[in-house]
Amino acid sequence: MDKKVRQRRNQKEVNLTEQTLIIIKPDAVERNLIGEIISRFENKGFKFVKLQMLSLTKEMAEKFYSEHKDKRFFTELVSFITSRNVVVAVIEGENVITITRLMVGATKSFEAAPGSIRGDLGLGITNNIIHASDSPQSFEKEVNVVFT
Ligand code: CMP
Repeated sequence: MDKKVRQRRNQKEVNLTEQTLIIIKPDAVERNLIGEIISRFENKGFKFVKLQMLSLTKEMAEKFYSEHKDKRFFTELVSFITSRNVVVAVIEGENVITITRLMVGATKSFEAAPGSIRGDLGLGITNNIIHASDSPQSFEKEVNVVFT
């Protein structure tokens, strides 16, 4: 293969030092799973650059989940995420967005693969343990809502 083509392909595979946002949801906080979840990302080799326990307001939650505002589960989702404390964090590392989504697992915890966070720790859909940004654009939006 041509050297330049190979270099371009390699560049696509490694997104050097990007950041993502996670929310450890109220169900996981209540079940004392904060340490377990943080450890998984640290053990993988990612760095926590921001970490805070807080309570999301209804306004913040509605902004955070605005892409779901027309879904039938929106009210339940906002109500759940604002019901108790959450832990919000910014994590940094190579390809962190894609790898974090893999580590988190499928949205429906009962369908998430064993070995993933939801697959190992959760059973629910609304109460699915953790949220993670799905793209650089989502990260930018979400970080601005949560860390105002
Ligand atoms: P999260 O990754 O935080 O992003 C959006 C959330 O909406 C998702 O996790 C679930 O908690 C929730 N969600 C997605 N699909 C459904 C659904 N079909 N029913 C109820 N809640 C859902």
